Amino acid sequence: MTNLTAGPVPQHVAIIMDGNGRWAKARGLPRTMGHRKGVEAVRETVRTAASAGIQYLTLYAFSSENWRRPESEVTDLMGLLKMFIRRDLAELHKENVRIRIIGDKVQLRSDLLPLLLEAEETTRGNTGITLVIAFNYGSRDEITRAVQRLASDVANGLLAPHQITAEHLSATLDTQGIPDPDLVIRTSGEERLSNFLLWQSAYSELMFLPDFWPDFSRETFLKALESYACRDRRFGGVDETTRAVGSV
Ligand code: IPE
Ligand code: IPE
Ligand code: MG
Repeated sequence: MTNLTAGPVPQHVAIIMDGNGRWAKARGLPRTMGHRKGVEAVRETVRTAASAGIQYLTLYAFSSENWRRPESEVTDLMGLLKMFIRRDLAELHKENVRIRIIGDKVQLRSDLLPLLLEAEETTRGNTGITLVIAFNYGSRDEITRAVQRLASDVANGLLAPHQITAEHLSATLDTQGIPDPDLVIRTSGEERLSNFLLWQSAYSELMFLPDFWPDFSRETFLKALESYACRDRRFGGVDETTRAVGSV
């Protein structure tokens, strides 16, 4: 594992992989070709993240709102995830990658769910980078499901209301055990979070890049990491210089 960038490497990078459709449209191709090309960018991104020393990489692959797309596109996206797991699981496992899936699994097709569970189970003991795939994921849905669980624990006398702390809520989310993202990247020039990790990204650095997802390269990723290394994160406190001056 090499530190390819000078300065701090984010422990957790989360990416909103956007722009597949526009990438295809710009080439006169059907949207599905953009999604296909996007899978190649996923492979390269996982490799780059691991080699840069990133410990958690979360990829937003399908949102809880993406069901609003035409049925053929939804089927295509489900099929691509299935194909990715089938083709790449052995390789990812060999590379010591641990896979986690976040999102509501209940609504997923019966041919997809077992594959996702198998990917998590097979790689559970791996100690390399954790690849978190956000599939059928939406923050509002995730928080709502967590609150329902907490409310039910309270109703059953297992939990007192005052025991519901921010930490407790964090530990009830799908991302339980995963540190908050240090850096959230969105490709395609859109500057919004689209229901992605809203709770977890409270203090994340945000980066909006113009590239469509299929064009997101190792070079672009490393440049983003370099730019992250220059950011000054304060978490509501004061920076070192201000603290030193203030404490005189
Ligand atoms: C991102 O690309 C992939 C998913 C949301 C699944 P889009 O399909 O959103 O591409 P654009 O934003 O329409 O270009
Ligand atoms: C966000 O992209 C979801 C994923 C990348 C999976 P969208 O393309 O669905 O977001 P909006 O609709 O432009 O906000
Ligand atoms: Mg989009």
